[in-house]
Amino acid sequence: MAHKDQIATVFGGTGFLGRQIVRELAARGVTVKIATRVPERAYSLKTCGAVGQIVPVLCDYSDAQSVRAVVKGSDFVINCIGILFERKKRATFEHVHVDIPAMIAKACADEKVSRFTHISALGCDTGISKYAQTKFDGENAVRTNFPAAMILRPAVMFGQDDDFFNKFAELARFMPFLPLIGGGKTRLQPVYVGDVADIVLKGLFSNSSRFQGKIYQLGGPDVVTFREIYEKLFKYTMRPKMLISMPFSVAKLEAVFLNILPNPILTPDQVESLKTDSIVDNEALGLDVFDISPKSMDLVLPGYLETYKSGGRFAVEQNG
Ligand SMILES: NC(=O)c1ccc[n+]([C@@H]2O[C@H](COP(=O)([O-])OP(=O)(O)OC[C@H]3O[C@@H](n4cnc5c(N)ncnc54)[C@H](OP(=O)(O)O)[C@@H]3O)[C@@H](O)[C@H]2O)c1
Repeated sequence: MAHKDQIATVFGGTGFLGRQIVRELAARGVTVKIATRVPERAYSLKTCGAVGQIVPVLCDYSDAQSVRAVVKGSDFVINCIGILFERKKRATFEHVHVDIPAMIAKACADEKVSRFTHISALGCDTGISKYAQTKFDGENAVRTNFPAAMILRPAVMFGQDDDFFNKFAELARFMPFLPLIGGGKTRLQPVYVGDVADIVLKGLFSNSSRFQGKIYQLGGPDVVTFREIYEKLFKYTMRPKMLISMPFSVAKLEAVFLNILPNPILTPDQVESLKTDSIVDNEALGLDVFDISPKSMDLVLPGYLETYKSGGRFAVEQNG
């Protein structure tokens, strides 16, 4: 169904999940505003829609007036902003995960936006990391300002251009071994980014308001340990590596040094988050509510991890 007269604003629309949501909204004919600190980052997305359908809009997330100006006139707002590590004053977890969502939710209420979806994170209610705790505080800030917000808590997301499998695949290119932090026993339930985007759209376009004002935990069909994640990676990249068990204390020490890098591959806070499993609670509302059968890693991973094979995508054919 086309939604030509509707306007959606996506905060963090330049990010991994945000880009998928923008593409799907565009395919439905919605006019999409991408609120971003750097409009140039959103230019490549303009080709996903008709001329003028996708509009990058400069936004200063720390300024309520700037946020409200972008939200103004929108039917739908989606907040996909998030960070994995802190930097300086404006990139603290507290600011990005609590203050910014609160500001966006308030702007949505003031501008009478009909539907607002906020992306949180699985395990934020029980996690001991600062990332998790601020994601949880952010949910509460959103609910205070916009009680009807639909809140999604995805597990770690996979898909083309993800920052998870691609990161480890990149590491496996040059590292002689990969670390199994805490023995690699932490359990995860990775979910396909396209399934999460589908749920966002189902919530926005549903004729009923039954999805609103609720929290959903989104996990994929497979619960796997970190060791099993590596095994899948090795299988689909055909680059087996030695796995070396690393106690949490050693990983944390190493992460203190890695955290100095501009884009650290591991931070002390991420080590903390690996101390708890990240899987969906049995009683939680989840993908089934939206009638979505989640895609498995085994279906999606081969499609983008094959580029990491030694010799590239066509390695087998070339060697054969
Ligand atoms: N990826 C996962 O596996 C995963 C799992 C669970 C939950 N989540 C949550 O899902 C949401 C989307 O995740 P994602 O992986 O798509 O995120 P992402 O690609 O890392 O980034 C999303 C957006 O956050 C904005 N951003 C980045 N650094 C910022 C900063 N210092 N200050 C303010 N804004 C900043 C950027 O927007 P601009 O640069 O355009 O301003 C970016 O497009 C996030 O809330 C994340 O916490 C992600």
